[in-house]
Amino acid sequence: MTKSSQHRCFQNSLRLCLLALSAGFQLLPSTLSAEDLTLLGGDTTSFLPAEAALQVVAPNVTDQEKRMEQLDGFSVFHRINRPQTGIGPQLVNVGCGRCHLGNGKGRVKAGPLIGNSGNTPSSMVIKASLQGLQENGAPIDPPNVTEQLKVKFNGSVRKREAFIREIYGSREARWPRLRFRKVSGQYPDGTKYTLLKPILRVRLRGVRRSQLVTSIRMTPALVGMGLIEAIPEEKILEWSDPEDSDSDGISGRPNYIPDLSTNSFAIGRFGHRAGQPNVHQQSAAAAFHDMGVTSSLFNTGEPGEEPELSDFELRILTVYQQLAGVPAARDQSKNAVIAGQEIFKQLNCDSCHKMTVTTSHAEHPELNDQIIHPFTDLLLHDMGPQLADERAEFSASGSEFRTAPLMGIGHLKKVSQLKRLHFLHDGRARNIEEAILWHGGEAEAAKEAFKALALGERTALIRFIESL
Ligand code: HEC
Ligand code: HEC
Repeated sequence: MTKSSQHRCFQNSLRLCLLALSAGFQLLPSTLSAEDLTLLGGDTTSFLPAEAALQVVAPNVTDQEKRMEQLDGFSVFHRINRPQTGIGPQLVNVGCGRCHLGNGKGRVKAGPLIGNSGNTPSSMVIKASLQGLQENGAPIDPPNVTEQLKVKFNGSVRKREAFIREIYGSREARWPRLRFRKVSGQYPDGTKYTLLKPILRVRLRGVRRSQLVTSIRMTPALVGMGLIEAIPEEKILEWSDPEDSDSDGISGRPNYIPDLSTNSFAIGRFGHRAGQPNVHQQSAAAAFHDMGVTSSLFNTGEPGEEPELSDFELRILTVYQQLAGVPAARDQSKNAVIAGQEIFKQLNCDSCHKMTVTTSHAEHPELNDQIIHPFTDLLLHDMGPQLADERAEFSASGSEFRTAPLMGIGHLKKVSQLKRLHFLHDGRARNIEEAILWHGGEAEAAKEAFKALALGERTALIRFIESL
């Protein structure tokens, strides 16, 4: 550690400084108070390679019948697109695993969202609605669009063209397109950086531009879905602080959204704006909105309609995700990782990315009473105007997002087999550092504290996140 960084370090905080110094001088890690997070998913933690861990049933599930169900759910997840499931005729992509690559994140791609062939491989989802909300808080669908823009169409070329004309009009130059604009910035130490901000162009036939609101969503990873479901509701409410009564600049409140199975409002846990209450409903919504596959929960409501995805298939699809393992965290005894964890806490990253919680009330006993490290409070936080879009969703405004879970994040590049892994709800961040630099609003202070760190400390923090 250089003299000048020692000096700056002392201006920041004595504790943090001692820590960075001790990491630099290779002091014994035992002098530091880091928690060993290896068992990210408690007893569901798997030491298989992450690609397998995320798909194979968790090691603590011993019931043979459940293990078989989880295995059978795997085929629904990957083969839902067989012709008899009635995929389409309008869709975003043809299978769960075509967006959630290896159960990891999806691809982020600039350019036209509808290709000439109509087959641009996209795992981005564009939610589009009219200004305002329905009485129950749901967004309002534009004409010819349900929830999300459809970019693929099955059936004959003529039929495909008719759909495109109906939704977007006939001029290809006006079809939806995503591009990224460079935004530059600088650390207090003079290091420059360039970020990318997404610019989405969408026109819909028969909708005035000023009426249309959109939200770009990248495909998140499916890590520990059953555990996220089992984070106790009382804990989420205890974490929430809508009026910021402790004046730490961080409020956080739950999204309340319809639970279709109980016909009541529930706390949202899934999706970038916590718009879905559980894996079951999230999966049925995905089948319907992403793939055009109906189920008992989501359908067109026409009389005599048979669900294309049976209740049995939907259940094993849900079990597959709930009971998959969580890959273990790595390198927890390495000095840089230990220092990084300490910095994570020092910068108050853990006021939103909650490190540790004990699960309860899980649908499966194997997921109960597990000490897990989800790194989320499942609450909505105002992340400032830079990350915001205009599309509200139930209690969530356009600038509010659910704290992204960081559990398993360090494995996802390999899992998804992508050259570059993207982060944040719209995939604008090309690495963890960029993701932190986009934090604003309630997380502005944490971001500024990150920027004020010495390079070695920033690197240790990122090393820690990558160890998860
Ligand atoms: C077109 C790409 C695409 C397809 C196909 C797709 N998803 Fe997703 N998935 C997404 C996106 C984007 C989100 C985030 C949605 C949001 O922000 O509301 C998501 C969110 C989820 C989540 C919540 C994850 C979390 O951390 O909150 C689950 C669970 C999920 N999808 C399961 C499925 C299942 C099961 C299928 C197949 C039936 C499927 N998805 C098909 C893109 C896709
Ligand atoms: C006020 C709450 C809050 C604080 C404080 C906060 N975050 Fe976040 N973080 C979020 C939210 C909300 C998101 C999701 C934003 C989005 O999707 O656009 C997020 C996303 C992230 C992501 C991207 C994850 C992914 O898979 O896309 C990383 C990495 C991250 N935060 C790290 C940090 C670090 C490191 C700190 C401390 C310097 C921090 N966060 C402080 C709320 C917070």
